[in-house]
Amino acid sequence: MAPSDLAGRAAEVGVLVAMAEDALRGRTGALFVSGEAGIGKTALVRGAEHLLADKITVRWIRCLPLTALATPLLPVRSALSAPLPENGFAAMRAVDDWLAQRPTLLVVDDLQWADPATLDVLMYVLAGEPDRRLAVAATIRSGEETTLAEWLAEARRLPGVAELTLQRLDRMATAEQLTAAFGRIPRDSLIDDVHARSGGNPYLTSLLVRGVDPDAAVLPAPMFPGACPNLAPYQVAAAPAGCAVFLSWVQFA
Ligand SMILES: Nc1ncnc2c1ncn2[C@@H]1O[C@H](COP(=O)(O)OP(=O)(O)O)[C@@H](O)[C@H]1O
Ligand SMILES: [Mg+2]
Repeated sequence: MAPSDLAGRAAEVGVLVAMAEDALRGRTGALFVSGEAGIGKTALVRGAEHLLADKITVRWIRCLPLTALATPLLPVRSALSAPLPENGFAAMRAVDDWLAQRPTLLVVDDLQWADPATLDVLMYVLAGEPDRRLAVAATIRSGEETTLAEWLAEARRLPGVAELTLQRLDRMATAEQLTAAFGRIPRDSLIDDVHARSGGNPYLTSLLVRGVDPDAAVLPAPMFPGACPNLAPYQVAAAPAGCAVFLSWVQFA
């Protein structure tokens, strides 16, 4: 996502860019970006990547909610182009060497789904020398980090580690998001309606206006019961049964 399409996140993009610039000057840093599903964690990092792509190498480790096919280090193996040694220590060293090849912003997306071996590798990377040209941005879905709690408690104590919690977009930022989506400024009443229903979660905002006439005064008649609009996607499991139609479209971003 280009930074120009990212509504209301200028300060947060600035934090990531500053961390990457520090890394280029030889100061290693890490940022844990947390927030509810759909709040824009991945979009934020993509926006920063856009700005930084010609200054620093950006590498992504993507963690997935795998179950039966989960294997240790799968997200790391998928990110590396070369095979990873089987021996654990050799594997950690190989990741370190990979990251040392050039100034790097390492993104670990959806850390809450990382397997224990991947967390070990990441801990090893974070605990390394503080003068590497390395920045690490890890996204974490709030409310699902229970298995991560101990790991996070330790990681937070390491030097150079900072945290950022993404808040929902305010009305003005939601208006910006809608203006970008519609290609023109929508009516105030439509902005109010969307913001009230999405609660400022940008993913819900994008779902609500799909197929909506940009000149509409308000959203079409309620597509789902009143209890649904303020549900963040990760709360779907606890949703009232009447929300089923709406929830059936909610694919996790
Ligand atoms: N700041 C933003 N401005 C506009 N749209 C956004 C913003 N943040 C997120 N989005 C939209 O919401 C969707 C979900 O964002 P995403 O980054 O995938 O959420 P998360 O990673 O927190 O679950 C994105 O695909 C994008 O369309
Ligand atoms: Mg994401």
